Amino acid sequence: MQEFLPDEPATQAAGARLAQVLKPGMVMTLSGDLGAGKTTLTRAILRSMGVNGRIKSPTYSLVEPYVISNLYLYHFDFYRFEDPDEWEASGFRDCFREDSICLIEWPEKAAGSLPAPDIALTLSWVGEGRSLQLNALSKAGKLCLNQYAQLT
Ligand SMILES: Nc1ncnc2c1ncn2[C@@H]1O[C@H](COP(=O)(O)OP(=O)(O)O)[C@@H](O)[C@H]1O
Ligand SMILES: [Mg+2]
Repeated sequence: MQEFLPDEPATQAAGARLAQVLKPGMVMTLSGDLGAGKTTLTRAILRSMGVNGRIKSPTYSLVEPYVISNLYLYHFDFYRFEDPDEWEASGFRDCFREDSICLIEWPEKAAGSLPAPDIALTLSWVGEGRSLQLNALSKAGKLCLNQYAQLT
């Protein structure tokens, strides 16, 4: 599924729609060049899910956790992830649970360690705007994107 996002408010609206359809247990990767809008979109998802206060980019920490009543949200940014051995030591594996949603920027840097995603999202530059591509990689992901498509 592909969609044109002409400006930042359009990216935020897409994030609000995704927040309505992502389910506990899901993993979504966000790919695209620096400045494509991965963090902007992730922040919009987290805000719409009820995260208050500052939403830091996990550039150095690699992950920022949030909890909304009994739902855990983990925002990963693997841009600076280099050593696959770090995966075991970090406890990142414990973030992937039935009661959590994992949103992952720069998944390609942790390829080989990451659990299989349900949805692969890609943002790319198109003129002044962005193109959003959504691919379902599991049955749950497919159901989720069908719901997303109906929320226009
Ligand atoms: N649909 C859009 N059209 C144009 N600019 C956008 C759009 N979505 C986001 N932006 C802008 O692009 C930049 C994206 O930055 P950021 O979200 O940090 O990217 P990334 O995390 O992919 O490196 C921000 O300055 C944001 O205002
Ligand atoms: Mg980013």
